[in-house]
Amino acid sequence: MIPRSLFRLLQCPTCHSQALYVSEDGVTCSSCTNTYGFHPGYLEMMPRATTYDYVSKYVAEEEQLASELDYRDLAPPLLAAGVRNRALVRLLDLNRTDMVLDSGCGTAKFAAWNAARAGLMVGSDPATLFADAAVEQVALVQSDARSLPFADNSFDKAFSIDVLEHFPRDVIDVYLRETARVLRPGGRFLIFSNTREPSPIQPVIDVSRRLGRLFVRLGVYDFEREARRKSDHIKALETWEDVLDAMEQAGLRPVKVVFWNSLFTTFVEHVLMKLGETLLGRPSASTRTSAAASAETSITDGTQREIRARRRFRARLERQGPTYYALFVVTLLMEFDLWRVGLDAERELFPGGREVRVTLSRTAGGLKSSATLSKACLRGLSVSPNRAFVLLHMGI
Ligand SMILES: C[S@@+](CC[C@H](N)C(=O)[O-])C[C@H]1O[C@@H](n2cnc3c(N)ncnc32)[C@H](O)[C@@H]1O
Ligand SMILES: [Zn+2]
Repeated sequence: MIPRSLFRLLQCPTCHSQALYVSEDGVTCSSCTNTYGFHPGYLEMMPRATTYDYVSKYVAEEEQLASELDYRDLAPPLLAAGVRNRALVRLLDLNRTDMVLDSGCGTAKFAAWNAARAGLMVGSDPATLFADAAVEQVALVQSDARSLPFADNSFDKAFSIDVLEHFPRDVIDVYLRETARVLRPGGRFLIFSNTREPSPIQPVIDVSRRLGRLFVRLGVYDFEREARRKSDHIKALETWEDVLDAMEQAGLRPVKVVFWNSLFTTFVEHVLMKLGETLLGRPSASTRTSAAASAETSITDGTQREIRARRRFRARLERQGPTYYALFVVTLLMEFDLWRVGLDAERELFPGGREVRVTLSRTAGGLKSSATLSKACLRGLSVSPNRAFVLLHMGI
């Protein structure tokens, strides 16, 4: 959607002027005279006459991905997305007056799931594979995070889920600086991403991976769709040190850090769900035609099976029957990785961990952190996380 309240936040992504006017044709910049057009459900605000060295596959191969991602219908927030969403709700503490930015929103599923909790939820991405529910509930902007079309201090809160690992370091730096610019002082920024380092419990996690590989060798399922999705990963933030360095350079201060050591998660993603998909994704007579169609678009059998399974899952989830509750329980188990193992890891990681308390309190002037999660303390980490939630709190 393109609500009127969005217009107040805009600035020109090409010349950074805020002298914009809205007409039937779109939004025009009085300074550089560029016009940015309205499209069904979203506003296009890509910088003009700008070429970037780095272009993500999500953008360069948008058309091909459109068929593979099966992006238009949203399932409820369950499994890995459910864990992320529950953490987002807990850590960002959205309220009905918040202006919120989902930068690199993709289908904008996280934005759609949380739109009702915010005053205005804005989703921004250079690719336009937006889910139908997002088009209905989220203010969607086609824009590049390197030149966000929003004025300084526009947002109270922002989040970035599974984005940083797709960028080279120089793009990460600009991405973080731009997000910091549009976030008001004292605003909160939640980042979910991962580093290259193995988890402290990697040997245990690897048991599930090996089991998954065995099923692949036996021809039960494959990981082609995941592999394709992950082929865009660069993981320029190799270590936790790199994460902290990037934050510091962007003027962001870590407030709360939660590590996700994916014990159950890996088992669920590499074995349990893959077996479920194999069972539920078998072709039926009515899907043969679509198989023929997808042969033309080079979607592999495994991907077709997965898409079929996901559609059938979604149909069952809509009925909120046993499948929904079974997946909800699995989601809670996966979340256990985040909060239990994550917190254990935190205690282990901070020598004298009891001294590291991170609490946030609100004051009239904005958010204040009562914690001293000092860099020295963070740098003292002895064990490497393989995934991190980072809640950043700026400007105090
Ligand atoms: C793995 S997807 C994550 C999408 C979404 N956050 C989610 O979790 O469902 C990575 C997203 O980063 C977006 N992206 C790539 N280059 C970008 C850029 N320059 N600025 C903003 N987003 C970008 C891609 O288009 C893609 O939607
Ligand atoms: Zn301009």
